[in-house]
Formats: sequence, C-alpha cells, structure tokens
Amino acid sequence: MNRIRIAGTGHYLPERIVTNAELEQMVQTSDQWIQDRTGIKERHIAAPHETSSSLGLAAARMALEDARIDAEDIDLIIAGTTTPDGMFPSVASLVQDRLGAVNAGAFDVSAACMGFLSALSAATQFIATGTYKRVLVLGTEVLSRILNWQDRGTCVLFGDGAGAVLLEAAEFGGPLGFVLRSDGSKKLALYAEGPCGARDAEGNGPAPHLCMINMDGPAMFKLAVHCMTDAIREALVKSQLKVDDVDLLVPHQANLRIIQGTAKALGLSMDKAYLTVHKYGNTSSATIPIALSEAAREGRLHEGDRLAMCSIGGGLAWGGMIFEYSKTGIAPARRDSALAEARAGS
Ligand code: ACO
Repeated sequence: MNRIRIAGTGHYLPERIVTNAELEQMVQTSDQWIQDRTGIKERHIAAPHETSSSLGLAAARMALEDARIDAEDIDLIIAGTTTPDGMFPSVASLVQDRLGAVNAGAFDVSAACMGFLSALSAATQFIATGTYKRVLVLGTEVLSRILNWQDRGTCVLFGDGAGAVLLEAAEFGGPLGFVLRSDGSKKLALYAEGPCGARDAEGNGPAPHLCMINMDGPAMFKLAVHCMTDAIREALVKSQLKVDDVDLLVPHQANLRIIQGTAKALGLSMDKAYLTVHKYGNTSSATIPIALSEAAREGRLHEGDRLAMCSIGGGLAWGGMIFEYSKTGIAPARRDSALAEARAGS
C-alpha cells in the first residue's frame, strides 16, 4: 500500500468578520453568553458574490502553491460541502475548471460537518491502492446561507470558510487507522431539509424554516463528545497506538466546551488541541482543513506527528482518523541519513 504525504495545505476566510457584539443587534443574545457557552468570539461571513466553490478555489490555490504542484498534475478533487453552489454541477467540478485541473476527476461528499473527514478517508484509499497519485481534498462552506438569522440557538454558532489539503503518494505518512460511523435514526438532532428532496403525503415541500439549520443543541452537545471520543479511541486501536502517542488533536470546531469535553474524556491535555473555534465559529466541513492549514503555517505540525482528527455532524455522521503527518514524504531513516550526509559534507 502506498503511504501518503500532505504536500500542501491552504485556507480561505471571507473578509467580513461578524462579532458577537454585532449579533447582539440581531437576536436576543450577549457576547458573554456566546463566549461562555461556545468559546466563539467572531466568525467570517461570505460576501453576496462568494460561494462554496469560490472559497474552495482560493483555498485550493494556496494548497497548490504550498505544494509546488501544478493543477494539471492533480488526478482527483473531492469536496466536502453541505452548501454547494447548486444541486449540480458539484463544487469539486467547479473548482476543477477554475483551477485548470484538466486531468482531474471531481465529486462532492455530503456528510454535513463530517464532509471533510469522509472526503479525506476516500481520497486516501485512492492513493493507498495506487489508483491515483495526487488528490486534492476540500472542505468548503457558506453556512450563513442556510442559517435562520432569527434563531439565536443556531445563528451564533456558525461561519463561512474553506480549507484544502493536497495529498500525494509517498514512502512515509498517511492514515494509520480511521473509523466512519452513522446513525440516521438520530436525524432530527440536526438537519436542514433543503428545497429539493423532502415531500409530505400531499406532495408539498418543506416550510422555508425547515430548509435552514434546525438543531437540538443540548442533544448534539452530548452526542458530539460521546461519538468523537469513541471514534478517536477506535481509530487509536486500529492504529495500534495509545492516547499518549497523539501529538496533536485536530477536532471539528463546533464549540470549545465540546472540544474540552472530548479531550478530557480521552485523557488528553488541552495543550495538545488545536483551536480555531474562537475566531471562525463552526464552518462545518471546513473546520479541520482550515485548522491543518493554520497549524502547518504556525509550525505546530512536525514530521511524524500523530494527528488525531474527529468530527460529527448531521446524519448523524461521525468519525475519527489517526494521521501520521509528513510534508516531505521521506521515511525517518532516510531523512536522518540525508541529514547526516549533509552535515558531513558541510
Ligand atoms: N443567547 C442567549 N441565550 C441563548 C442563546 C443565545 N444565543 N441560545 C440559547 N439560549 C438560551 C436558551 O433559550 C435557554 O434559555 P432557557 O433556559 O430560558 O430555556 C438557555 O440559553 C440554555 O439553553 P441551552 O440550549 O440549554 O444551552 P446550552 O448550554 O446547551 O448551550 C448550545 C447551547 C451552545 C447550542 C450547546 O448546546 C451546543 O453547543 N450544542 C452543540 C451544538 C453544535 O455545536 N452543533 C453544531 C453542529 S453539530 C457539531 O458540529 C458538533
């Protein structure tokens, strides 16, 4: 099986920042309440002309530049998104065109906040089996378009953004173990019916408010901690690793208290958790790739680090992955001898 390096990462946040103080003008809430209950201080909201594909394109360009890989050399693009520009074409196809990835296939994955981890797990299978060499994975969302801005229970939680990861076949790096789970019987904990699918017995579509995000917050809170903890534990067993082997927790960023609860249940120090929720809120599929991109730029990712990623979203769908990080894709033994040779030569 091929191993996999993260050749490049990228992210994009819309320019406009909406603070909690601004939300105080729109719904009956307070900066204090939002920060105490969620850890969120502000979020970015897309401009009217921006879409999931335009946000995803910006993140993808950054990842390609970081990887120094040409768009024509990408074999496949997979986009995790809950807020596509339209029913079709897919966001991945729109990005493929604008990126000039003329040799790439493209498709979207719909799994709400689990979109990125689902797309990432699919992408790694294409590379591990030798089917493809380079796969671009996106998580991109304009959640602001499906928020009910009169519902204080949901509108304060979400934001817009995109992240991208360019994977390439290598001799070192990649997933050590992962788990994908779903329980459709809990669909009413978090859903948005959308204008297309649902019909009642008379053939009528859903009322407009049902097309927005509807959520049982306290239920989702408990499910999130429980499911993400279990998923990481299971992924660790599959990886033949222990919690102490985790170098960085890169969880879905829905609520600081959910991340704290998950870290506590796992027995992981919060020092090992990478956080963006305070500044971006919950950007659904985009939270993990944005975090990876920022963590890489801040020097928080080192060759051989074991990253523990986990997420949960509407479906319910949840999962976890232990990923051995490498940007070089060079096995440690060869890296060490190359270093020694370089030192001897100098
Ligand atoms: N401002 C002020 N008061 C509010 C707000 C608000 N924005 N929203 C709710 N309240 C009120 C409620 O009406 C309630 O008032 P009451 O006691 O008079 O009835 C009170 O605050 C407590 O409400 P709860 O819902 O019990 O508050 P809780 O502590 O559970 O926090 C929250 C709510 C933040 C939504 C929390 O349940 C949560 O984070 N759940 C997870 C949901 C989530 O993040 N989902 C994202 C998708 S799933 C995922 O990504 C993991």
